[in-house]
Amino acid sequence: MLPESFLQELKERSDIEQMVSSYVHLKRSGRRLVGLCPFHSEKSPSFTVFPDSQSFYCFGCGAGGDVITFLMKAENLEYLEAVKLLAQRAGMTLPEDAADDRMAKLKTRILEINRESARFFYHQLTTPEGREGLDYLVGRGLSVKTIRRFGLGYAPNSWDTLGNYLRGKGYRQEELIAAAVVGRGRSSGTYDLFRHRVMFPIIDLRGNVIAFGGRALTDQGPKYLNSSDTPVFKKSRNLFAMNIAKNTKEKSLILAEGYMDVIAIHQGGFDNCVATLGTALTAEQARIMSQYAQEVIVAYDSDAAGQKAAARAINIFGELGTKVRVLKVQDAKDPDEYIKKFGPERFKRLLEGASNAIEHSINRIREKYDLTTADGRVSFLKEFAQYIPQVQNPIERDVYISKIADELSVSKEALTAQVQNNIKRQANSRRRSERRDLRVYSEVQPGHKPNPERSQNIHYALAEDKLIALLCKHPDYYPFIQARIRPEQFVTSQNREIFSLLMERLGEGKSIELIHLSGELSGDQLSWLTWLITSNEGLLTQKEQAQEYIDTILSHGTVKTPEQAAQLSPEQWQEYMNALKAKKN
Ligand code: CTP
Ligand code: MN
Repeated sequence: MLPESFLQELKERSDIEQMVSSYVHLKRSGRRLVGLCPFHSEKSPSFTVFPDSQSFYCFGCGAGGDVITFLMKAENLEYLEAVKLLAQRAGMTLPEDAADDRMAKLKTRILEINRESARFFYHQLTTPEGREGLDYLVGRGLSVKTIRRFGLGYAPNSWDTLGNYLRGKGYRQEELIAAAVVGRGRSSGTYDLFRHRVMFPIIDLRGNVIAFGGRALTDQGPKYLNSSDTPVFKKSRNLFAMNIAKNTKEKSLILAEGYMDVIAIHQGGFDNCVATLGTALTAEQARIMSQYAQEVIVAYDSDAAGQKAAARAINIFGELGTKVRVLKVQDAKDPDEYIKKFGPERFKRLLEGASNAIEHSINRIREKYDLTTADGRVSFLKEFAQYIPQVQNPIERDVYISKIADELSVSKEALTAQVQNNIKRQANSRRRSERRDLRVYSEVQPGHKPNPERSQNIHYALAEDKLIALLCKHPDYYPFIQARIRPEQFVTSQNREIFSLLMERLGEGKSIELIHLSGELSGDQLSWLTWLITSNEGLLTQKEQAQEYIDTILSHGTVKTPEQAAQLSPEQWQEYMNALKAKKN
């Protein structure tokens, strides 16, 4: 456990506003700061920083906590790793005995296992058994240089070759399972997860092999298999080939759908291409890309699924304010096939001609209608007028309105009026839905699953919330509260656990500021507590209120009929009497 004094100093030296600002563009709003949440995708800012309590809370997804929790989430770190990083920034050193972090050790072992596995797969390409894999890669047009550059490999058609190889190198079963290169077998053994596949190592920005993708050589099983998340790998925040693309001289990054597209594009002479890892683009991935590029060119497959995914990606980058252009891959199903068919020169021209995000969206709307008919034109204009309010910049909006009015020979004034109307309507409906959300918040913590125990006891739960919030604001009320209610008397377990920890710490004379709690509460508990504190900000904080909340909580189950009282066990009876007594005090 870290000493209190250390955490206190760390807190004084680390400002949450400053820390968060390097991840999120924050705007001041009264005593708070707001911005777009880095942990989920959103259009209007619900991510809030509270400098007074040095905490953050997202009213959209429910993430919350202190500066340590923020770093843990933002950088995917364990508690001690986050403290260490924070201490480094603050110019402090971690006390010696706290350096025992088993998780950090496990992570190092997993990275070693991954590196060994990548070497193993690569080496297989040169063996007779791996010939099939090599032939496959070469057959898809990859040069030996490309294969080496990406460290591609082959996983043999066997259940245990890799596992045995790694155990021979001294890695333990549990470590191999944690690295997700083997799975746990039915009986005691393990089996290799990647079999009879060509292998694509996924390498992070520091050059660590963190995971693998494997493509099947036959039609059996899933075409691609990707590592599951491990302590060193989170699908949602890594990108294939980002380790290479981050060094590009280009100002843009190309985002493709698949491993083979990325590799073909690189081989074609474009070193700025990346892909997600078998899932749709996440806000985190978009943010990472935006840090390295002024502009992103989306080069997804030409099929409907690819186009739909492109539209989503455009939105995500749009929210971040990153410039996006969209490639239209024609007469080929994906960039890989395009380059094979038409060569890199033509792909380069395709890149140059990629349309910007707004043009692309308008084109997509246009394709839905037959503009040679009056009906088609009307429907198109309607949908255009619905879409264009999303463009924030009024000058930009005007340019497209002019262009479309011109193209369809309609009055620009009429089209503008229609758009203005929609802007007003959309703003109103957004305000309404925000108000509705706010009401729901009082029952359920935003972003979290409904909690039935809480809903059934909402009357008591709200009093518990307020008592906890009040205690956090006024730790000096500890004796007053301690004399009147015990944690066991809390009705909901979620609040009981937190209240119990707070009271215990106060009883030992310890601080209950968030920074001292982040090591003791789970992530969910901490975000819940932050929510309690922030959603009860305007709370009156007199002892009378404390008494009122305590009375409410204690009224649960204390009003019993004589028949009910007769049914109680001795313990329950004692509990009941205590509650009555506490109520009288
Ligand atoms: N993918 C996946 N699981 C699958 C299919 C696809 O994870 N069963 C992911 C992979 O990351 C793949 C990407 O989605 O690279 C694109 O899929 P697809 O277009 O089907 O693959 P291609 O890149 O065209 O692969 P190939 O050319 O090898 O057929
Ligand atoms: Mn393909």
